[in-house]
Amino acid sequence: MAIDAAVLASWVADARRRTIALYKDVADDQLVVPYMRIINPPVWELGHVAWFQEHWILRHVLGRPPLHERADALWDSAIIPHAERWTAALPSRAATLEYLGLVGERVLDALAARGVDAKLRYFTLLSIFHEDMHGEAFVYTRQTLGWPAPWWLGPMGEAAERHAVGPWPGDVAIESGVYRIGAECDPAPDFVFDNESARPSDRRAARSGADRAVPGARCARRSARVARVLP
Ligand SMILES: [Fe+2]
Repeated sequence: MAIDAAVLASWVADARRRTIALYKDVADDQLVVPYMRIINPPVWELGHVAWFQEHWILRHVLGRPPLHERADALWDSAIIPHAERWTAALPSRAATLEYLGLVGERVLDALAARGVDAKLRYFTLLSIFHEDMHGEAFVYTRQTLGWPAPWWLGPMGEAAERHAVGPWPGDVAIESGVYRIGAECDPAPDFVFDNESARPSDRRAARSGADRAVPGARCARRSARVARVLP
């Protein structure tokens, strides 16, 4: 499958729809949550997703000036320590969503106007996968805080609501056999995560089970995208 500008634009829009939807049902005051080491403040995380996309696509690839004068200080996760994200003078949720919308619009405009070369393709894929990973973080943040899963997650959402906290019940059976692990090198894929980039190897797995299932709907989405990227 050719990953052209139209495909990238559809993935950018799809990831953004999901990001917006994941907290849409949560009121502003509920989003102000107490400090926890294992999650990010939800409004900070929304801004960080926008900053990452702006930083890598609009500023790094396209050479545009920053859209937000305090963006790096607020949302660059390499600059702002985790604990300080909770006390930083963050823009409101509405202003953060506006920034998220503006960055998304500019990226889609750029993809439509200039097509895509290898560099733009790479960094657009990076921002899409980054946003999808934060989508997973938004889901586990909800679970950590004891909030119900978004209803639109369907059966997984209903199951998650029944088991909002604690271990996920049931086992996952893994068939014994040989599994190919790692990205193929020839032809080189457009994008791989660093932990997938090692030379592929065959690993044998014995039949086994786990006492905690990884909810399929949460992971299938990114895997499906990766599958489309990899040969
Ligand atoms: Fe991030």
